[in-house]
Formats: sequence, C-alpha cells, structure tokens
Amino acid sequence: MTQVDLFSAAPTDVSVYEVSLRDGLQNERVTVPLADKLRLIDALVASGLRRIEITSFVSPKWIPQLADADEVAKLARRAPGVRFSALCPNAKGLERARAAGIEEIAVFVSASETHNQKNVNKSIGATLEAFEDTIGPALALGITVRGYVSTVWGCPYEGAVDPKVSVGIAKKLHAMGCYQISMGDTIGAGTPRQTGDIVDRLLAELPSEAIALHMHDTRGTALANIVVGLERGVRHFDASVGGMGGCPYAPGAAGNVATEDLVYLLHGMGVTTGIDLERLVEAGKAAASIVGRQLPGKVLQAGVRSLRA
Ligand code: HMG
Ligand code: MG
Repeated sequence: MTQVDLFSAAPTDVSVYEVSLRDGLQNERVTVPLADKLRLIDALVASGLRRIEITSFVSPKWIPQLADADEVAKLARRAPGVRFSALCPNAKGLERARAAGIEEIAVFVSASETHNQKNVNKSIGATLEAFEDTIGPALALGITVRGYVSTVWGCPYEGAVDPKVSVGIAKKLHAMGCYQISMGDTIGAGTPRQTGDIVDRLLAELPSEAIALHMHDTRGTALANIVVGLERGVRHFDASVGGMGGCPYAPGAAGNVATEDLVYLLHGMGVTTGIDLERLVEAGKAAASIVGRQLPGKVLQAGVRSLRA
C-alpha cells in the first residue's frame, strides 16, 4: 500500500505572530502594570519571537486594560529583526500609533454584523469605509498594515457565518493594502473539515503569504484546525503565550492557542520557527505570574524538559 504524505504541501518554516500582550491582556480581569508588560515583551523577544502585537490603540473606555498603549509602544525595547504592531480602529488610533513610533498597525472587522456592531459600534460596511482613514494614511507614513476578520468560524450572536462573506472581506482588506489578513475563530468554534473549506476558499482568492490563522481554543480544536491550514500550505499563525486571550465583546471567547503548544507541535513535525521553546515556556511562566493565575497552555504545565527524563 502506498503511503500518502498529508503534509507534502506543508511549509518547512512557519512565522508565529504573538498576541498575548493585546488579545491576552484585553481579556484579563486585572490591569497589568506597565513595567510587567515591558518585562513580558522582553521575555517574548528573548524567546525568538519576531512579530509581536504589543498593545491596542482602541478607546480606553472600551478596553481599559490597554489604556497605557502609548507608553507600552514608546518604551518597548526594540531589537533587530523584531516587528511590533498594535491594533488600531480609527484615525485617532493611527495618530497615537504614529506618535509612539509603532511600525505596524492591525485593523479589524467582523464577518457578522452583530459582533461587529458590539465590538466597534458600527456596521461592517461603515467599518470598511472608515479604513480609508487608517490603511492608506498608515502606508503613506511607512507603517505596514495587517487586517483581521473576526467570527469567521461562527458568531456568538448569529451562529453560523457564510465563508463567502469572510473571504469577500479578506479580499477587500488585501486590495485596500493589508499585506496579510488574519482570519479569526473568535469564539473557538471551528472544526477541521470546516477549516479545510475556509482555507481552500481563501487560497483560491489570495496568495498563501497573505493568509494567517488566528484560532482561539475555547473548545480544544485550535491545533487541529491549525494542522489543517498547515497541511494546505498556510505558514502564518497567531498565538498567545500561556493561552491567554479572548474578545470582551464575544461572550464565552476563551484563550488563543498557546504559543508554546503551537511551537511544540511545529518543531515536533520538523517545521522551524526560530523560537527557543524553553525560553518561550519561561516567558509563559512570567505571563502567569504577571496576571496572577494559572494559564491553560499545555506545554507550560507539562514542561519541555520532562520529555528527556
Ligand atoms: P465609539 O464610542 O463609537 O467612538 O467607539 P467615538 O468615535 O464616538 O468616540 C467615543 C470616545 O472615544 C471619544 O472620547 C473619542 O475621543 C474616544 P470622548 O470625546 O467621549 O472623551 N476614542 C478614542 N480614544 C482613544 N483612542 C482611540 C479612540 N477612538 C475613539 N482610538 C471605537 C468606537 C472603535 C473607538 C470603540 O468601539 C473601540 O475602541 N472598540 C474596540 C473594541 C476592542 O478593542 N475589541 C477587542 C479587539 S478585537 C478582537 O479581540 C478580535 C481579534 O482578536 C480577532 C479574533 O479573535 O477574531 C482581533
Ligand atoms: Mg482574538
């Protein structure tokens, strides 16, 4: 019997985009002091992560945990080859990002109307129109722009979401100047067959380099979905150290896939990331002590070294 290699199209090198400082901390009950955020950034950079979303220039009334975004972005220690980015909803956010010297912003919109309305107080159409105030002006300033599409695998208010709508929005964001679109399973509802369908539709419309997967692990399916994306050639994945994360405007949304679990899986499959797993676990321990609770990341709990005992 001939063996079929499911991973013949899988990339040999993957780029991980770290979101704990933003997606993680926006959903914590405690507001973490500035010095602890800077310490976590240093630990993540030391692990070899090269793309880190360090904060969010949204309204501090909506997300008080990240009200110190300006200081975080100004004081985060830059390192060669490391790109810091931050969420940015409007022109005011872009002005704050520019003043803080951030090199990349991320714009965001949902594929379902109700979540979009609750998250940014606008319809999807009005949100896309308002991107005229951020994407073009940011690019003119030399700031790169990433895009997010949320609720692609399901909406906490509306249920099923038509993948055609999500892919249509991703195409628009790409055409507007986003170099990469991160497709979000905001409430961690996705399963592998569904992911295969969504990724196939995306790959039919966009280059693989323009696609990232942003999987929350609410129901334990994030890594299974990531493997489906990987097998089809996607090489950009978002993750959050320790598995922190969630959208305060999506009830029941739990943490992103834990960065150390993703990296463990990738390295075990022979896929390189440039990340030192042991140092990443150290960053995860720092994150847990900073937020004052045990984090759900599996490798964080099991450890890396125990494998060699
Ligand atoms: P609004 O209330 O409609 O905005 O909020 P507004 O323009 O009417 O302004 C209201 C007030 O906010 C004004 O202040 C503005 O100046 C201020 P006031 O005059 O009342 O004193 N304001 C700002 N202040 C600082 N920075 C700004 C800013 N903008 C306005 N940038 C808005 C609209 C978009 C601002 C608000 O809805 C908002 O901030 N929403 C963000 C919600 C959020 O951050 N959600 C979580 C992130 S998305 C996510 O987690 C999903 C993702 O992870 C992917 C996935 O998992 O699927 C990305
Ligand atoms: Mg998210």
